[in-house]
Order: sequence, then structure tokens, then C-alpha cells
Amino acid sequence: MKKLPLLVLTSLFLACKPGQPTVTPTPPVSTTESDVTLKGTAPFPMGASVDPGLLANKSAYRDRVLKEHNSITAENAMKWGWLHPSEKVFDFKDADGIVTFAQQNKMRVHGHTLLWHNGPTWISNFYGDSLAWENLMKTHIETVAGHFKGKVASWDVVNEAFRDNGTLRNGFDTDNSIWAAKLGPDYIARAFRYAAAADPNAVLFYNDYGQEGNPAKTAAIVSLVNDFKKRGIPIHGIGLQMHISLSTNIAGVETALKELTATGLKIHLSELDVNMSNFQKNPALRYSDALAQQQREKYRQVVSAYKKLVPAAQQFGITNWNVGDGDSWIRQLIQPNDWPLPFDEGYARKPAWFGMIDGLKE
Ligand code: XIL
Repeated sequence: MKKLPLLVLTSLFLACKPGQPTVTPTPPVSTTESDVTLKGTAPFPMGASVDPGLLANKSAYRDRVLKEHNSITAENAMKWGWLHPSEKVFDFKDADGIVTFAQQNKMRVHGHTLLWHNGPTWISNFYGDSLAWENLMKTHIETVAGHFKGKVASWDVVNEAFRDNGTLRNGFDTDNSIWAAKLGPDYIARAFRYAAAADPNAVLFYNDYGQEGNPAKTAAIVSLVNDFKKRGIPIHGIGLQMHISLSTNIAGVETALKELTATGLKIHLSELDVNMSNFQKNPALRYSDALAQQQREKYRQVVSAYKKLVPAAQQFGITNWNVGDGDSWIRQLIQPNDWPLPFDEGYARKPAWFGMIDGLKE
């Protein structure tokens, strides 16, 4: 049950924006680097999730985003809490800034996410009958997908609707979904319909974590997709978040990729990072060359599996969950001295970056 703390912490700290790490590991910093880049090596889009404040104020961050990536996802700025802070208020400022940055630099924007069980508290306090709840979901999806129509390429329409055992999250506590509880289990299909109506050209994804090594969850997602196909509900892609650790078994990643790819939908590794603390508190964790090589190998394996097992026409791309170790949500929510990303705090390439390049070249 190593995923439990991750989820609980995500719920608890949803409102936080990336903060400063309290402990600084010391990965090697190279002063010169080659012209090889992630986006120049990959035959599919390479993305990073971004924070609008860092993008606006930190040139080293911006430079690294631009040099290595041709796709971006807002890490938080397109979620309910940011875009829709109270029932009648929408605030697109931060998200629009990210879209403008992408447009100026000819990058793809992937939207994350229209509907999630983690949301602002005003939703839990919302009062109304089932029609009012339906209207709340519909209005949000129509307003947000409509606002970004033609500007975002794709949406994670629904995020994390299933539990690890493959059942639908349905209920009122933090780990459950108020949407299923208020709207019934078919809310997912209606969310996809509303999104497609608001932006008919957007590529629509179902996004979740932990399919790797979890046949029950993968099976639930595959049967959702098959059901949608039968009923003509628009769905075009599956996102595997791919928040993994050194202990993640690559065979499990490969099985999930094969089963999800068999649906024929596009496949996105949507939030890749490889944490070093196995989703546990581990204050004794330090950077070491030996561990960094293991991390490099894990990045290589995942990227290589994606490249080999997903047919080119279904490769939507790979997105890392933020850019440098200092920006990672793992530091913020789980372990302050973790170093889960391909770039260090100063945005220098780590062995993990070389692992991605190796995987992309295979
Ligand atoms: C995380 C962000 O990275 C954090 O900054 C925020 O405090 C909580 O959410 N699955 C998802 C992402 O789909 O939206 C989550 O992002 C990480 C887990």
C-alpha cells in the first residue's frame, strides 16, 4: 500500500503551491552540456508541467523548459481551485499566462484537469439537488474547455476516478469522489460529453496513477474505455501519471502499457517522476552516485518501454512532473530532500536525464 500516503498527502496539501526545499542534496553540476535535448531526441512530444510563478520569475527554469520541451501542462493552474475559486468566480490569469508562453514558443498545451475528487472546499459545501450538482459540473467544464478552445490541444477530462482495487471512488471523504456520490457513477461519461461539446477538437483523456503493477485498476480503465466506445462517448486517450520510485517493477509498467495500448487510444505518460524515498518519509535520504545511477536506469526503462510498446500513432508523449528537483511536489508533500526529476535544483542535467535520452534512442 505504498501509494496511500501519496494520496492522502495530495488531498491534504492540494492548496499548496511549490515551496522552497528545506534540505539541499548535492548532485554533480556540469558546466558544459551537449546540444542533445529531450525534445530533439524524442519522436513524440516531450513535456514538463510548469508553475506560472517560476516561469515568470526564474530565467534558468524558463530556459530549461524551452530548451528540452515542446509540450507543457499546468501543474496546478488549470485545476478547479485555481480557475474557479468560488461558485460564481472564474480566474484565468495564471493559466492564460502559461498558454501565452506556450503560444509564443510554439509549444503544445495539455490541459489538466477538468474534474478531480480533489477540489476546493467550496465544492464540498455546495448545496443543491442533483440538477444543481449536474449544472455545477457542466458549467465548469463548458466554461473552462470553452475558454481554452483552440488553445489547448487536449484535456485530462477526469482524473483518478478509480481506487487501486478498481472500484469507483464514490463518497464524501478525502479519498472518495463527491462527483460520483452526487451525480452517480455515469458522471464520467457526461463529463466527457460536455468537454467534447465545448471543444470538439480537443484530445480527451482519462488520467490516473498506479496502473503499473495493478491489474485491477488497469482493467477498470480498459472496461471504462470499452463501455464508452460501445456507447459512442468521446474518449481519445489514457494518461498514466507514472509517479514511480526505484522499487517500481518495469514488468508491471510494460503490462499496463500493453493492455492500455490495446484499446487503440493515445497513451500519455502524463506526470513522470522517479522518487527516491519510495513514497515514504526518509529524512536520511542523501544524493549518491550509486542511487543516481539506479534512477537513471529506471528513467531509461520507462522511456524505452513507452517507445517500444506504444505504436507511433498512439504516442501522445511523455511529460515530466515539473522541471528541477527543487520544484517537485514530492519535496513539497512527501520528502523534502528527495530528488525525483531529470534536472537538479540549478537545472543542470542529472544522470536521470541521460537515462531518458538513452531510452529515447533505443
Ligand atoms: C499535485 C501538484 O504537483 C502539487 O503541487 C499540488 O499541491 C497537488 O497536486 N496526481 C495529479 C496531479 O494528477 O495533479 C498532482 O499534482 C499529483 C498527483
